[in-house]
Amino acid sequence: MNILLAGGAGYIGSHTAVSLLDAGHDVIIADNFANSSPVAVERVREVSGKPVTCYRADVCDKAAMERIFQENNIDCIVHFAALKGVGESVEIPVAYYRNNIDTTLTLLECMAKFGVRNMVFSSSATVYGDENPIPYAETMRRGSSSHPYGWTKIFMEQIFEDAAKADPNLSVVLLRYFNPIGAHPSGRMGEDPRGVPNNLMPYISQVAVGRREKLTVFGGDYPTPDGTCRRDYLHVMDLAEGHLEAVEYAAAHKGAEAFNLGTGTPYSVLEIIRAFETATGVSIPYAIGDRRAGDLPEFWADASKAERVLCWTAKRDLTEMCRDTWNWQSHNPKGYEE
Ligand code: NAD
Ligand code: WQD
Repeated sequence: MNILLAGGAGYIGSHTAVSLLDAGHDVIIADNFANSSPVAVERVREVSGKPVTCYRADVCDKAAMERIFQENNIDCIVHFAALKGVGESVEIPVAYYRNNIDTTLTLLECMAKFGVRNMVFSSSATVYGDENPIPYAETMRRGSSSHPYGWTKIFMEQIFEDAAKADPNLSVVLLRYFNPIGAHPSGRMGEDPRGVPNNLMPYISQVAVGRREKLTVFGGDYPTPDGTCRRDYLHVMDLAEGHLEAVEYAAAHKGAEAFNLGTGTPYSVLEIIRAFETATGVSIPYAIGDRRAGDLPEFWADASKAERVLCWTAKRDLTEMCRDTWNWQSHNPKGYEE
């Protein structure tokens, strides 16, 4: 298939590009590099040994996107293009709503105009909101979010469901990612956040490589086994491979359908620190600090639907997630910046 990756130069998109190329698909990337580097696309070519067409384009820009649809015979879209900073979305909510909703609407309009019927969407565990019991299952209703980023994902899922209801030819797979970490085993690709990392694993790996002094653990008094928050961390290559199954599923089905992509097993912040230290031999200085506003004590996936319907399960364990993160970070201490 010819697969358009909107936002494909980013962390998850670039790893997914390699998995799709390895499986024999052709990949076209459209990215404005708002939160990524063209070097990541070079690395996708290098690691896969395959050509990749790449456009520097804003996915909100309808004229630019129409040109891409015109020039490529697209069978399916994977839509990664979004701003993803939870805290930043509270500071600049309008920019988040504009970017994340507009990319989605532009892609849906292009799909209608050019007869493209299949879409895989990067959704998030955040759509379960604050109210649902754990583990989260796809049968639960979407919740409400404590931040604009989460609302953009909730709204976009709703938009896709409405579009699929109105157009019986449309097929949309809503992939609800849990907490992706890790990197490609080659050490040539990985997560490269701009500025101070918001997320746990990139922060740990930047402490390990000496870019940050110590980790602050956000809260040690949660009602969890060791007092720190628990999350469902999954290897980014497992997540990437989930997209292969989702693309096939979209091609064979109609309507909008959601799937959790997680392992079903939670780990605490302290367990992650210990696993990283054991896997890499590098010690991580840390201090327990205040809770971070908006953090839930714990959540993880009921991962059984993806296994039953998509025949997908996460295969890589926490040691592999830590080892591959460190392999990437230690060989690329400044990320994609040479
Ligand atoms: P990322 O920031 O690395 O990748 C997103 C990519 O989209 C970037 O390359 C960015 O430049 C691009 N982009 C953003 N707006 C664009 C626009 N208007 N036009 C063109 N390109 C644009 O983030 P990621 O971690 O790879 O996440 C990918 C998707 O998965 C996002 O939609 C994110 O919300 C979702 N998601 C991520 C996580 C996570 O923990 N990383 C968890 C759940 C869901
Ligand atoms: C994990 C745990 C922190 C940093 C976020 C989004 C979610 C999804 C994935 C996109 C938490 C703790 C973190 C640090 C810490 N993204 N932590 N010190 O918050 O589960 O999820 O990314 O959809 O929507 O909210 O991930 O990696 O930020 O945090 O103690 O410096 O690590 O409190 O318990 P989170 P995270």
